[in-house]
Amino acid sequence: MTNKGTGVARSGIYACRGDRRRVYPDVKALTSAAARAIVDLAERALRERGRFLWVLSGGSTPEPVYREIACQHAHAIDWRGVHVFWGDERCVAPEDPRSNYGNARKLLFDHVPVPLAGIHRIHGEDGAQRAAADYEREIESMRADANGGVLFDLVLLGLGADGHTASLFPGLHAVHEQSRRVMAEYVSAEQMWRISLTPRLLSDTREVLFLVAGASKAEIVGRIFAPSSATGQDIPAQTICPEQGQVRWFLDKAAAARLGNEPV
Ligand code: 6PG
Repeated sequence: MTNKGTGVARSGIYACRGDRRRVYPDVKALTSAAARAIVDLAERALRERGRFLWVLSGGSTPEPVYREIACQHAHAIDWRGVHVFWGDERCVAPEDPRSNYGNARKLLFDHVPVPLAGIHRIHGEDGAQRAAADYEREIESMRADANGGVLFDLVLLGLGADGHTASLFPGLHAVHEQSRRVMAEYVSAEQMWRISLTPRLLSDTREVLFLVAGASKAEIVGRIFAPSSATGQDIPAQTICPEQGQVRWFLDKAAAARLGNEPV
């Protein structure tokens, strides 16, 4: 039994762990597999429901994935039914290299015919609190068309070496927030305000795909999947657990170095 809105079971075991875990030999293989998985999910959602609601991740790991979709799979998707959102954002203008929206636009959305109305970005430049409140309203306005069902088709996420995902950093209130769906908080480690979807909203999806690469992630990946995981720990990534969906972890060999050989 899980606590509502989190992936941490009462027993202290990470309930969502190992839903589906794939280890790829390198970043290139991980990138191709992730691009393929995203395209497959988009095709299925468009075929079955006529639209694909996709939450994008910031960070460096998904960047080649966005590039690969633009270069190799653009024609496989009917972009007219695609709606993209962001899991988090910095309080900067879109032209700033730190903007998650700006980066995804350059790598992907400048190259595919996604309608303007399908791009739902966080307006970080409007100020943290206002941007968070506006974004929550914008996302909730999409819910009317979800017929009371699950909102997103895919939430793409990364993992920080400290266990953060989106802008849910250890110790922030947003990690355990139960009512608000989008929150702005000051992240001292980064010395800046960040806006993030909360676990409750990030879990309102049919599919979560974590993309994790590099040796710097090996320790936290090992902790997340350790049998005693979650007991008294504060690992934000573990709070993402869709009640009506699945979590898949795509790891490269370096990030998976501390995992055992148990079947996945
Ligand atoms: C961001 C993120 C953040 C990121 C992780 C992993 O905007 O930076 O959303 O949560 O996904 O820090 O980043 P890497 O992919 O660069 O390791």
